[in-house]
Amino acid sequence: MNPFKFGTIVEGDFFTDRNTELDQLKHKLDSENHIVLISPRRFGKSSLVFKTLSQIDRPQIFLDLQYILSVNDFSTQLMRGIFKLYPYEKIKHLFSHFRIIPTLSTNAVSGAMEVSFHPSSDTDIMLEDSMSLLQKICQQSDKRPIVVIDEFQEVTKIQRGFDKQLRSLMQVQKGLNYIFLGSQESMMEEIFEKKKSPFYHFGQIMHLGKIPYDDFLTYIQSRLPNNNSDTSIHIAEEILSFTQCHPYYTQQLASQVWEMMEYNHITDNVVSQAVENLIRLHDLDFERIWLNQNRTDRATLKRLATNTPANHIQQPPSTIQSSLKRLLQNGYIIKTDAYSVEDPFFNRWIKANV
Ligand SMILES: Nc1ncnc2c1ncn2[C@@H]1O[C@H](COP(=O)(O)OP(=O)(O)OP(=O)(O)O)[C@@H](O)[C@H]1O
Ligand SMILES: [Mg+2]
Repeated sequence: MNPFKFGTIVEGDFFTDRNTELDQLKHKLDSENHIVLISPRRFGKSSLVFKTLSQIDRPQIFLDLQYILSVNDFSTQLMRGIFKLYPYEKIKHLFSHFRIIPTLSTNAVSGAMEVSFHPSSDTDIMLEDSMSLLQKICQQSDKRPIVVIDEFQEVTKIQRGFDKQLRSLMQVQKGLNYIFLGSQESMMEEIFEKKKSPFYHFGQIMHLGKIPYDDFLTYIQSRLPNNNSDTSIHIAEEILSFTQCHPYYTQQLASQVWEMMEYNHITDNVVSQAVENLIRLHDLDFERIWLNQNRTDRATLKRLATNTPANHIQQPPSTIQSSLKRLLQNGYIIKTDAYSVEDPFFNRWIKANV
């Protein structure tokens, strides 16, 4: 079986490093504090949180704001999460405070409890009631629940004032930890670091970086075919030099390289051939992304892809800054030590085509 995996949460043998972060998360969860975990897309936030939570015996609820379109949706998803943990029969006495009674039914196939609120119900009340149900459960439960909210930066887009309302309900809750995950770093920082934001300093911020070079090198090399040879070390080094240790793209490229070595018995120039294959595969996507950018942003992408210093560009600094901000927000570039194009394959595509 291909020993590299990308695109979904990784666990077990597919998961490497992050021991320090794992310990830090566990320690923080041992307090009454909430946690904010920030990184660019596909750096491994979900994998890290899942791994941490798999080692902790506490009730867990997962919500993803990317798929929550309204306050009604949020309250419904929260209730579903609660019912997954606690059967209705055991908590039905806690519903006496509900002002809008949700419709509850059992899914005949999965056996899961389905919840829905009438679309015209008052969403403020729905939210207050479901959040206070969560609080009552925390008071009753001997194990403190953990509520993970993914893509939390979306909180400002769901409905005007929703962030304020949510914060005021969360701040009175006790006996649980929230973990807020977010991949749009600038927006997450605005939410948790800006004084005027309702969530100002609401949780302890942790930034997740790339996977350290040495660890990733051993991880890749030990999984390649002929893993004891100098060739496999060299190939692993080439992979990391191309992906710069980005967790997702490293696994993607390593997976392609492994396939070509294992099935096609290619070793010479295998990394460059794998890169070419993957670029060809995504050619249309890259073209579409490129065509969707305005001229200023194209110039910025080209400058970053070709490592051209900003002062070699004939644009006012303010234009350059706003372009960087826009591209960062849209996830096309990331900022670690410096700005760079997020996807190393797109980076190579720009260099080759523009
Ligand atoms: N600890 C790890 N060891 C090895 N590979 C990893 C690790 N963490 C992440 N990856 C690689 O990165 C990919 C993305 O991981 P994950 O989905 O956890 O990231 P994420 O930050 O939650 O992404 P998103 O921003 O899309 O929610 C995984 O499929 C895997 O290929
Ligand atoms: Mg994720």
